[in-house]
Amino acid sequence: MRIRDLRNASRVVLALDLTEPRRYWSIMDELRGLVKIVKVSWVTLLTIGPEGLSKLINYNNDVYFLMDAKLADVGFINSIIAGKLKELGINGVIVHGFVGKVNMPNVEGLDLLVLVSMTSGGELYDANFEGMISMVKEINAAGVIVGGNKPSLIRRARSYLGNDYVILSPGIGAQGVKPGCAIFHGADFEIVGRAIYESENPRDSFIKIEEESKKAECSQ
Ligand code: XMP
Repeated sequence: MRIRDLRNASRVVLALDLTEPRRYWSIMDELRGLVKIVKVSWVTLLTIGPEGLSKLINYNNDVYFLMDAKLADVGFINSIIAGKLKELGINGVIVHGFVGKVNMPNVEGLDLLVLVSMTSGGELYDANFEGMISMVKEINAAGVIVGGNKPSLIRRARSYLGNDYVILSPGIGAQGVKPGCAIFHGADFEIVGRAIYESENPRDSFIKIEEESKKAECSQ
């Protein structure tokens, strides 16, 4: 599974940063058939462990799993970690862009998503935005992460990268950006966590947010 092929299937990436192991299973059961892409993180790995994550992935084999590893080591270590994540069944991995081209992991069949701008702070990133984005084109990346609260950077990323790369934007919902806004400005996917898994009815919330994301309107 490659993330660029999922653009028509869904616009929402469900971020699961749950600290209770059983909730990973219950939320995935509740969203079965709806959720196509799940972003897991160090919180996930530290909560359910590598075996738990591997079981979760096997149990949801129609779902694309993206690991928000925010890798920032030297290349050969990043490649070992990314390779081990792929062995668990992970389909894509997020890396920090600031470590530069030579440190990007290279694992056959694993999508590489490069963090180039953060929702909160990240001023050093934004000061080097052009350099970050141009590096993305020089490596074998699937796309980039750009904060959903930075519409001008989303637009710049899209105009520079064209449609061959995906743009994922976090910050939707709990951090204040309305669903649909990042897509309106040029993102492909909106990353949503708490606005879904902390809501009273995650299934209804997912359906509503997916609808709004697909409409890609923004009144903010
Ligand atoms: P919430 O609950 O706020 O979760 O919807 C947001 C998710 O997105 C991640 N996040 C980021 N990831 N760059 C990233 O790569 C960012 O700027 C950023 N801001 C939030 C966060 O870790 C959580 O999983």
